Amino acid sequence: MDTRGILTLFEKIYGSSGGAESFFAPGRVNLIGEHTDYNGGHVLPCALTFGTYVAARKRTDGTVRCFSENFPESGVVFFELDEIAPEPRHGWANYPKGVVKAFRENGLPIGSGFDMIVRGDMPSGAGLSSSASIEMATAVMLSSLFSLGLEDEAGRVRMALLGKEVENRFIGVKSGIMDQFAVALGRAGTALFLDCATLERRYVPLELGKYEIVVMNTNKSRALVESRYNERRSECDRALADLQKSGVTIRSLGDLSVEEFEQAADAIQDPVCRRRARHAVLENARVLTAVAALESGRIAEFGGLLNESHVSLQFDYETTGRELDCLAELSWQSGECLGARMTGAGFGGSALAIVRSDGVDAFTRFVGERYRRYIGYDCSFFRSVAGDGARRI
Ligand code: GLA
Repeated sequence: MDTRGILTLFEKIYGSSGGAESFFAPGRVNLIGEHTDYNGGHVLPCALTFGTYVAARKRTDGTVRCFSENFPESGVVFFELDEIAPEPRHGWANYPKGVVKAFRENGLPIGSGFDMIVRGDMPSGAGLSSSASIEMATAVMLSSLFSLGLEDEAGRVRMALLGKEVENRFIGVKSGIMDQFAVALGRAGTALFLDCATLERRYVPLELGKYEIVVMNTNKSRALVESRYNERRSECDRALADLQKSGVTIRSLGDLSVEEFEQAADAIQDPVCRRRARHAVLENARVLTAVAALESGRIAEFGGLLNESHVSLQFDYETTGRELDCLAELSWQSGECLGARMTGAGFGGSALAIVRSDGVDAFTRFVGERYRRYIGYDCSFFRSVAGDGARRI
């Protein structure tokens, strides 16, 4: 979609589009490093080329109106700048509300209300960070409308950190920093290699030779994702606390090498928490190996690490489920793919596969037909390239 499309929608809802500005923020796909961000480990996501479009215009009073074409049932949501609180019936609009509140509480002045339109060209609930995408689209919009100067690198980091606060405190999901970082700081043609403990980062060229990334949406509705996500977090916290009590001096599970973990693991009392911690530590090590493989063109090795990641999420972290396991298994069987795994929080959502470019059609046929037979409904496929982060358009 282009600028005109979103401005036409703005005009349809608010009468005219004079003075409105347009913005875009992508979704993200995480290549490897799952459930490592809140454990102080590394991640390797990239921004997508689809995501959330926003158009907005300042008002002269303190009212904010917002409408999303993707959630017309919510209607035009109204709220006052001075009275922002999460409200379940506001649904999707709680994300922009949370961002406005976080900006104001952190010394970023939003001088007046505004009218806002949202249109997403990515599936929501597909594990591709539609919520971080709405948050960062709102953040770049606010920065531009109210001249807050957050467009540079440091400003983007600030926007990402505020977006995480919105998830943690306003929405109530204890998510880590990966999604907002990928969405705010993504760069076309690269993956973002991020140390979530220090926020040190570097861009890794996504050069897959004869291969490309295919994203596969299970189309499974992700019931109870938030509560199970928060449960995984607290299991890791318990594992960390046991290790610290036994004298291991670490701030997070991401501080441990695989060898150190193996020596210390018995200190973790609950076997379930021990398995969760094992995933966090081994997955973190896999990200480091995967980056080295990608940087030296060892794509087959990179694919193999994706497969190991899925198996670890399946058995140790238990965030996959029938549909994601089916997509991974069928991808492995297809003969066209170097590696496949679930991506994002899991429990439904999406998987990704590294597929031979000239075999993508055969791949989607093979996986699609069998998925329908085993699961009873269709999955969907997106050919994906790495795009740029949130911006004015
Ligand atoms: C969700 C969260 C992220 C991250 C992933 C799992 O996408 O928002 O912070 O924890 O799950 O890797």
